Amino acid sequence: MRTFKLVIVGGGSTYTPGIVKSLLDKKEEFKLEELRLYDNNEERQRKVGILVQKVVEKFDPELKLTLTTDPEEAFTDIDFAFAQMRVGLYKMRELDEKIPLKYDVVGQETCGPGGLAYGLRTIYPMVEMIDFCEKYAKPTYWIVNYSNPAAIVAKAMYLLRPKARILNICDMPVAIMRNMANILDCDRHDIVADYFGLNHFGWFTKIRVKDEDRTEELKAYVKEHGYMPPDERSEVRHNDASWKHTFDNAKYLARMFPDYLPNTYMQYYLLGDQIVKDADKNHTRANEVMEGREKRIFDAVDTYEKTGEIDMTPFFTGVHGEFIVEVAMSLAFNLRKRHLVMVPNQGAVKNVPDDAMVEIPAYITSEGPEPVRVGQIPTFYKGMIEQQEACEKLVVEAAIEGSYKKALMAFTMNKTVPSAFVAKHILDEMIEANREFWPELK
Ligand code: NAD
Ligand code: G6P
Ligand code: MN
Repeated sequence: MRTFKLVIVGGGSTYTPGIVKSLLDKKEEFKLEELRLYDNNEERQRKVGILVQKVVEKFDPELKLTLTTDPEEAFTDIDFAFAQMRVGLYKMRELDEKIPLKYDVVGQETCGPGGLAYGLRTIYPMVEMIDFCEKYAKPTYWIVNYSNPAAIVAKAMYLLRPKARILNICDMPVAIMRNMANILDCDRHDIVADYFGLNHFGWFTKIRVKDEDRTEELKAYVKEHGYMPPDERSEVRHNDASWKHTFDNAKYLARMFPDYLPNTYMQYYLLGDQIVKDADKNHTRANEVMEGREKRIFDAVDTYEKTGEIDMTPFFTGVHGEFIVEVAMSLAFNLRKRHLVMVPNQGAVKNVPDDAMVEIPAYITSEGPEPVRVGQIPTFYKGMIEQQEACEKLVVEAAIEGSYKKALMAFTMNKTVPSAFVAKHILDEMIEANREFWPELK
């Protein structure tokens, strides 16, 4: 049986123990020969590594686990890299969210100015990681990337490293499909979704369950309840009050724009004023995560180091880890499974630029995604996508060219930002906050 060497980049992530659990759940089919964790923060990774070690002991005790901060050791001969780096950690996420909010603009880690700032931090570390793979990995390597902001990362890697074997994915569509499955009382794997957009910027156009079109029934439900399922099945992910609020907000979008069913992230572009009103400018999602998911992980490690006891179930990630592993297995075994992933448009959405990185259904083969053809999309959606795509393209060009002018254009172009004055205030404050991370903008 073929076995795989796999490295998790951002080994110190809050998600790592859960993703490893999802990997090891599949060990009969997707057998790992070695699992490596790689991070540039040794202490954080050492702590998370203690939990990962427990997961390995429990689910695949023979598996070799290596923790390293050395790129050569991490990437040599690997078949897969799972990339989940958060450049600047939660401390910078907090600023991405809080700086725009000072100006009454949406404060979000991947949407609006916060997403642009996070993008400017992440492009070059991702390029560096691709170069490590090109240098050390097996020539058939695959990077499964979900480091955010995935839209900007995907676009930048397509421009800077077009030949890299990287597939960019996001768990939001599949997490919404998990809720849809709950609403329609079926298994999420039986749902076939038609979808178009950019990452964190898209719409479901049709939902079939085992060949039966259930779109209209679902729309009627979402108009009433958003994506909140009828019974609150326990899910570790997306279960905080703020996530429930987000799922609920989908009802306003489904009522006003009944053609399609929105990605939850559309709330930031279409309901921005209300999002700002609902926000606590001094306590954002970054604070919730630092006080919640991140604290739970590191508290558990401390307790374990003192008492030798640990309950791991709070760290299993459900659909997030399952989805990443399903995509990797389709790449590994040429399964041609259909998933919603990011691909270069190249005519798939006919009236959107060819070089856009679109999120659409694709069949995942061992040579990469084979996207479906979506065809023409209506003016409202096309206009929204073109504006957002131009914004993301400008921010990538700003990073490549070190151009302040293009960065300002990108910030101004974003639909969450009301004027060039506001864009400039936010950009200038973000330049100061990101000195350690951003390319210099002149
Ligand atoms: P986290 O801060 O807990 O973990 C990220 C880790 O990356 C940290 O340990 C950090 O030290 C490390 N890191 C930073 N820069 C690095 C570099 N250059 N090389 C190697 N490691 C580096 O963050 P988290 O909340 O667990 O999220 C991890 C990432 O996954 C984030 O980018 C997040 O946005 C992303 N994410 C994406 C999706 C999706 O749908 N695409 C879903 C969940 C999380
Ligand atoms: C969804 C998105 C991810 C994002 C995450 C944030 O899953 O698809 O891209 O990273 O939400 O969740 P958090 O719990 O960190 O706010
Ligand atoms: Mn995502």
